[in-house]
Amino acid sequence: MVKEKLFAKMSRKKIVAGNWKMNLIAQEAIALVEAIAQLKQNNTAVELMVFPPAIYLQALQHTSLKVGAQNFHPAEKGAFTGELSLNQLKDVGASIVLIGHSERRELFLESNSFLKEKVDAAIAHKMPIIFCCGEPLSIREAGTALEFVTQQLTESLFHLSPAQIVDVTIAYEPIWAIGTGKTATVEEAEAMHKGIRAAIEAHYQSSEIADSVSILYGGSCNATNAAELFACPNVDGGLIGGAALDAASFIAIANAF
Ligand code: 13P
Repeated sequence: MVKEKLFAKMSRKKIVAGNWKMNLIAQEAIALVEAIAQLKQNNTAVELMVFPPAIYLQALQHTSLKVGAQNFHPAEKGAFTGELSLNQLKDVGASIVLIGHSERRELFLESNSFLKEKVDAAIAHKMPIIFCCGEPLSIREAGTALEFVTQQLTESLFHLSPAQIVDVTIAYEPIWAIGTGKTATVEEAEAMHKGIRAAIEAHYQSSEIADSVSILYGGSCNATNAAELFACPNVDGGLIGGAALDAASFIAIANAF
């Protein structure tokens, strides 16, 4: 049993992704990508990707790192002032998108049903997805975090077919751990990741499907705590905020596997 689980983990993609949020200006973004690309050398065990502010995608599109977009609008085009479409983001080199980050949910009021539209748009564009989920502190304290996260997945993601869901990466980011310096404990992270995998298995009636979905942890993950988080059987990498803005710490996190 333990062996099977280990095998499942080994066969899943390991990913360390940097979400730069609304930080850096062009020169800094270019310097950071160059420093990361240089430091990563031949670490091929982990896929590294960065999500810069969209205006810098074009300048970064020829890096050896995968580069993605933090946000997009699900419509093909039209009167959506200030928004960017998937075609526009692809055009400047985005090859993966984040959907459902808690900052989009909380600050820009993106609902589970709107996020479902984004999921469908990305699938229609064959654009790979990192789908973020996670509970606020009040829900964690009420003891209903797994139910809350399962509802996020059910309402935005679980309408996908088996063939579509296996290509989605999930990022579990407890809101109380984001940018707070307060990381989920190894036990809390593993319990949630295991619960998410069980929810996938229950919905799709398939342990193979559940075992093939990479589930990343995010929330004050850094060079010091990454190794113990990544050692959890159900944690397949990290979505990193603050610590991704420094090349050495981002690479140290990637090397924590
Ligand atoms: P921090 O690593 O800064 O807590 O941010 C996590 C995050 O929100 C990544 O998307």
